[in-house]
Amino acid sequence: MDNIEKIKDDALAELRNASETEEIRALSVRYLGRKGVITQFLRNISGLPAKERPAAGKRANEVKKELDAAFSAAAELLAARKTSGDQGIDVSLPGRTVPRGYLHPLTQVTREICEIFVRMGFDIAEGPEVEKDYYNFEALNIPKDHPARDMQDTFYVSDNIVLRTQTSPMQVRTMEKQPPPVRIISPGKVYRCDSDITHTPMFSQVEGLLVDRNVSFGDLKGTLTAFVHRMFDEDTKLRFRPSFFPFTEPSAEVDIQCIMCRGKGCRVCSHSGWLEILGSGMVHPAVFENVGYDTSRYSGFAFGMGVERIAMLKYSIDDIRKFFDNDLRFLRQF
Ligand code: PHE
Repeated sequence: MDNIEKIKDDALAELRNASETEEIRALSVRYLGRKGVITQFLRNISGLPAKERPAAGKRANEVKKELDAAFSAAAELLAARKTSGDQGIDVSLPGRTVPRGYLHPLTQVTREICEIFVRMGFDIAEGPEVEKDYYNFEALNIPKDHPARDMQDTFYVSDNIVLRTQTSPMQVRTMEKQPPPVRIISPGKVYRCDSDITHTPMFSQVEGLLVDRNVSFGDLKGTLTAFVHRMFDEDTKLRFRPSFFPFTEPSAEVDIQCIMCRGKGCRVCSHSGWLEILGSGMVHPAVFENVGYDTSRYSGFAFGMGVERIAMLKYSIDDIRKFFDNDLRFLRQF
């Protein structure tokens, strides 16, 4: 009986030292095989006193089963370790990258425009896209049935509510709320019933308004010149061309020298050498009267620019619709 227990302990001790499948298989053959230690033990039982034979045989068979189970379990564990690698993780593999989001080119350009004016002391003011006819038109000196309304094809929500066609209503909303001086910049979306390669029904503008004592057309020119030089580059030439807006007098459109051909004339500038980038002018006295500002004490200038247009010039994009297609091959370039 002591012999069979010793056989078992020896076998388990050897198994603990085995680190290869081959060693386990060899142990199994040596202990449990046809000529193995246990088989030998069972054969020798016949030499024992008759009384002891049944118990010795029973115990030997139990040990045989126990060892068989122990060998199988050890072999399985070893095989499992081999397939998963010891720690289950290969720390040398490169990590999985998380795709990173970034700002839409129009958001980037809008922020860039605003930042230039914020550095000149302008505050940002944002307002509603669904706007009263009064703010979008009437308070800006564009009465109902006035031909100037035809300049902007409007989406009407109801008789007196429109999708704003410009950011200029923010001039009126701001002046209604505060006395002069005023210095605001107002970015936002605007809507016009219009669609082709240079027009989309929704687009973005940035409006500017400055009101104070003794504000002159020279201040308007200086401010916009500084802006153009920062937005494009220091030697970009610009010109002020007489124009008309009902809410400014005098009014001017600002052109910059074509950034593709540097003024020589090309397809982009229709061979004129110039590109229009914004509308501007001195605030019309009728607008000041609508908000109760004293026209004998205060004057001001206003301007409004299309963000898509500026972005198209800055990045040489030929079709405005690319901004809204959401084609990642396009968007990832910014
Ligand atoms: N709101 C005008 C437009 O959309 C631009 C403009 C703004 C002109 C302010 C003059 C002053 O065309």
